[in-house]
Amino acid sequence: METIPLAKSVGLLSPRITILVTTQNKEGKANAAPYSWIAPISFTPPMVYIGIQRRETLTIKNMRETKEFVVNVVTKEWADKAISCEAKIENKIEKAGISFRESKKVKAPTPTDSRIALECKLHDIIESDKVDHFIVVGEIVHAEKDSSLKNSETVMHNSGPIFVSPGEEFEVERKKK
Ligand SMILES: Cc1cc2nc3c(=O)[nH]c(=O)nc-3n(C[C@H](O)[C@H](O)[C@H](O)COP(=O)(O)O)c2cc1C
Repeated sequence: METIPLAKSVGLLSPRITILVTTQNKEGKANAAPYSWIAPISFTPPMVYIGIQRRETLTIKNMRETKEFVVNVVTKEWADKAISCEAKIENKIEKAGISFRESKKVKAPTPTDSRIALECKLHDIIESDKVDHFIVVGEIVHAEKDSSLKNSETVMHNSGPIFVSPGEEFEVERKKK
């Protein structure tokens, strides 16, 4: 076993699902940014958390203003567009070619390309001096999925520019007693 520098240790928890988080500000202008530090934290009610760097990103600003967001699972056919929304540039959404449709239960819009969309109400933005990310907690109030979607079409983030798609599916017997 090779010893990994602690600075790189959390990166070993990969690949992680790639999402595009959409939000809008109080004037109704939409934003989108890719994330991969996301996990479920509750079945009832259904909740997720996202780790977002502790600086004033547009995503955090919009979440504070309108208290809603949509988690969109990125799939291969629109990965380029979604990932380019990382750029810190003017009009990045238009430049990336992202278009939107209305969401069902929140005002934050859903990308037209999205094939898994979790509409969320913001529950909390937890801030701790002990960690360098905000812990954003959201409750899923509406969920949609394209039923033709295959696992292998989902884009997982490995590290830096490297992405992978899920491969072979296999079963493991779970002994609960
Ligand atoms: C694939 C991918 C995954 C990312 N995951 C995260 C993440 O989990 N947390 C985070 O804070 N930033 C993450 N980023 C960086 C944000 O996308 C970046 O900070 C972005 O500029 C924020 O945009 P905003 O100002 O519009 O919110 C990721 C970037 C990429 C390309």
